[in-house]
Amino acid sequence: MCGIVGYIGNQNATPILFNGLKRLEYRGYDSAGIATIDSNGISIKKSEGRLCNLIQIASSECGNIGIGHTRWATHGCPDAKNAHPHLSQSGAFAIVHNGIIENYAELKSFLSIRGFTFVSDTDSEVIAHLLDYYYDGDVIEAILATSSRLVGSYALGIICRDDHRLFAIKKDSPLVVGLSKSEAYIASDMQALTDKTRDFYILDSGEIAIISIVGGLPKIRVMNTRGKTIQKDTYRAEAEGETADKGDYPHFMLKEIYEQPAAIERTLKAQLNAPLPFLSNIGGMHIIGCGSAYHAALMGKYVIEALTGMRVNADIASEFRYRNPRLQSSDLLLAISQSGETADTIGACLVAQNKCKTACIVNVPESSLTHIASPMYTYAGSEVAVATTKGFTTQLLNLYVITLRLLQKRGDIRAKLLQDELTALPFAIAKALELEGQIKNLSPIVASHETAYFIGRGADYASAKESALKLKEISYIHADCYPAGELKHGTISLIEKGSVVVAIATDQALLDKTVSNIIEVKARGAFVIGISCFDISHVCDKLISIPQAQYTSPILASVAAQLLAYHVALARGCDIDKPRNLAKSVTVE
Ligand code: G6P
Repeated sequence: MCGIVGYIGNQNATPILFNGLKRLEYRGYDSAGIATIDSNGISIKKSEGRLCNLIQIASSECGNIGIGHTRWATHGCPDAKNAHPHLSQSGAFAIVHNGIIENYAELKSFLSIRGFTFVSDTDSEVIAHLLDYYYDGDVIEAILATSSRLVGSYALGIICRDDHRLFAIKKDSPLVVGLSKSEAYIASDMQALTDKTRDFYILDSGEIAIISIVGGLPKIRVMNTRGKTIQKDTYRAEAEGETADKGDYPHFMLKEIYEQPAAIERTLKAQLNAPLPFLSNIGGMHIIGCGSAYHAALMGKYVIEALTGMRVNADIASEFRYRNPRLQSSDLLLAISQSGETADTIGACLVAQNKCKTACIVNVPESSLTHIASPMYTYAGSEVAVATTKGFTTQLLNLYVITLRLLQKRGDIRAKLLQDELTALPFAIAKALELEGQIKNLSPIVASHETAYFIGRGADYASAKESALKLKEISYIHADCYPAGELKHGTISLIEKGSVVVAIATDQALLDKTVSNIIEVKARGAFVIGISCFDISHVCDKLISIPQAQYTSPILASVAAQLLAYHVALARGCDIDKPRNLAKSVTVE
């Protein structure tokens, strides 16, 4: 979703802003822009589409202070006029905004009556004009007055023509300030800046950062919206890890698929014996998330319920938060999010706060969710491809570790078996990755269709849902997923000769039933691709044979399906790492 970067220092801001924006590209965007202050005042350049379009028109921009933005359209179509930065009417202010101003219509009419004209269709432009409206020479006063009028969520980068400082303010949307020896930066996430600095101030909601360069050194003052100065500690980010570039891989997604054995091993090492105090004395669980994280939640429900007998509910965060869920004080709300910034997941967590225990499975250190629920980290390393792979499987691993812990507490003998299997999981995943050649060979069959159906039972259903999502998000093939027993209740009417059905069948106890469901679709002419650790080749047109595992085979099936989605998308010539319309981190509702 939208990305913010800002710079103040003694160098030309433009290439530094481009570099930061490039590092934010993975979040998903459809237009971009920068604003710098030069001798003539504020200069803004914006363009539709990819960053290379902006670089073409803005490379000669200069100035030592600047802000930049990648926009993922919400209010107004993705074109240059709606791209950020937005300039205030007098030309005194430029702003970049992440989030949504919910009362923008009311503010727009307030400003229109007072002579302000709008050039964009965005909610954000009101902020630039409000700054103008309240400005009488004191930028901070103008920012305080403006923020008091805004309803909604915002991370803002602000520059003023008359002022040699860089300003940032945050409410709900993430924003950090990075400091190096002689320069300072702002960004919507640390990853934009980790090649420049590892020292950050992580702003909390209602905080304003005023950044200047004094005697060649960066100086930051953080205050609240009442103008009171706040003392903040800096956070030292991990050194840049394995994900700085694609290496020899053609896409980040493939690289991240292959990083799974190491990511799983790292996460297991960190979590196997870590204290998980949020698990003590709980009677039931609600696991929530969005997108793939919801699929992890669903798999968690099947696995934890089946193995421990605990009452577990899995929910889509955006639904959970508004359906007035029944929560008991002995419940645990477990939120799952790779980024830790997904607005609906945070919202759902806040609904449960003060009613029951809250914990979260998160990959990004110090992300917003970790400040409102006890974090149980995954150690996937940073994930760049929009379609999650190692982020998802490390979430599953943590859910299996939670299962293990619950079994251990009860002295259940299966704990030992599960622990052994988790320890061997990195090897099993590495084995599953050896299937790539075979999967690549069958990918043209799927690539030539516009629809595919996925079926599975139990935890395989959760795995099939994730597999269908993976295929549709990167290959744009419509992929529908059903519990294997449910397909016949309506959707089977769509199955005809040649329809592609991917069947995941890794649960011995449910195998015969799933095989029957495969036979049902085969009888109607479907072309069936099986993903299984059993020999079901007699009912499949193609079988992807994943390694045997008693508990974790749905994870191995997911890995095989990731490779299938990747090769199908490749065969269709899609932009695999940056699929259209999608954002990696969805910070609005
Ligand atoms: C977006 C991404 C998905 C992701 C979902 C939740 O929709 O495209 O891949 O699963 O957000 O993200 P989170 O960071 O909360 O796991």
